[in-house]
Amino acid sequence: PILANVTAKKGTFHFGSTFDTYEADQSWFTSTFTTFYRHVVSENGCKWDATEPSQGVSDLTECLATQSFATAHGNTFRGHNTFWHSQTPSWLPGSFTAAQITGTIIPQHVQAEIQGMGSSVTSWDVVNEVIGDGVSNGMTALQCVQNKGDWPTVTSDGSGKALVTDLSFIYAAFNTAYQYAGSSTRLAVNDYNTGGQDAKTACSIALIQNIQQNTNIPYNRLAVGFQSHLTASTGGFYTKQALASTFSTLGALGVSTMITEMDIEVNSDTSANLRYQAAIWGDYLDACLYASNCFEFINWDPRDDLSWRGTSAAATLFDSSGNPKPAAYEVAARLQNY
Ligand code: G3I
Repeated sequence: PILANVTAKKGTFHFGSTFDTYEADQSWFTSTFTTFYRHVVSENGCKWDATEPSQGVSDLTECLATQSFATAHGNTFRGHNTFWHSQTPSWLPGSFTAAQITGTIIPQHVQAEIQGMGSSVTSWDVVNEVIGDGVSNGMTALQCVQNKGDWPTVTSDGSGKALVTDLSFIYAAFNTAYQYAGSSTRLAVNDYNTGGQDAKTACSIALIQNIQQNTNIPYNRLAVGFQSHLTASTGGFYTKQALASTFSTLGALGVSTMITEMDIEVNSDTSANLRYQAAIWGDYLDACLYASNCFEFINWDPRDDLSWRGTSAAATLFDSSGNPKPAAYEVAARLQNY
């Protein structure tokens, strides 16, 4: 009973989950998903391989289908993503110079997708996972991005480094997104292993400032997404206070924040593990709920059997039969108590 119509009381706060449309034909989605969650993200349908299967040919079928599902059930929708080194269309990797990608390929793609999805999208991950994993404190935004190891999958220069001699490809993506997005849609950089006081999070903050300075997009239209794919057994997650401090730093600039892809692998669903999972989930949700600039909280898959982390990871709020786990009750209680 506690699970029905869980809606946050905090103004424009969006609590949601991702899924792929072929999963949503199950009755569980209309009976449980759409009342528990009020916000939707397409897990794969808005990515570059799905939305521009041939160069210059925009195909928003899957992305629009997910948005339609959301709208039909009174839910809102956010966009993931317009640029990522992974799940690129087969025509892209290795085929173009950095100048072509920045000057033509990115602007065309971002315009077609953002214009095509309309003005009601709450936020877009304009660039996804562009910061390296080996960064250190004090790096510039450019150094943070140059530290990334995956650029060879995008450009034609062999090393892939041509794209990141500067950050103009990121400015191109943001400038185009700003031109075609709705007037209140937030434009985000999104990454994993970020959220607290560490070098990669500092890179996220440096990057959004750098983007503002080089595009003149107002800070109140920019956002930083924290994916939050967590593993309970290895730690590496942040305290509520650490998250709150980062949200506050960005809030002082006027930048919005969001938890964009949360899941917590526990590997075996013992009651102790599930209680631990619930406690971490509650902390992350509270950090976002009580930060004035954190306005979206997304779970990356709603059910263990649908999770990219594997069923046995037990990483989501609902078990494989669709029954709420302790973390689901925890989340519901935190939302209702806010
Ligand atoms: O498209 C084929 C389909 O034709 C085929 O029938 C099916 C068979 O398994 O595979 C389909 O492609 C898979 C696709 O998901 C759609 O289901 C890919 O093999 C698979 O690699 C892909 O995985 C996705 C992954 O991103 C790719 O990197 C996961 O579902 C998705 O959850 C995951 O999401 C990412 C975020 O976008 C960014 N942050 C990390 C997160 C987790 O990796």
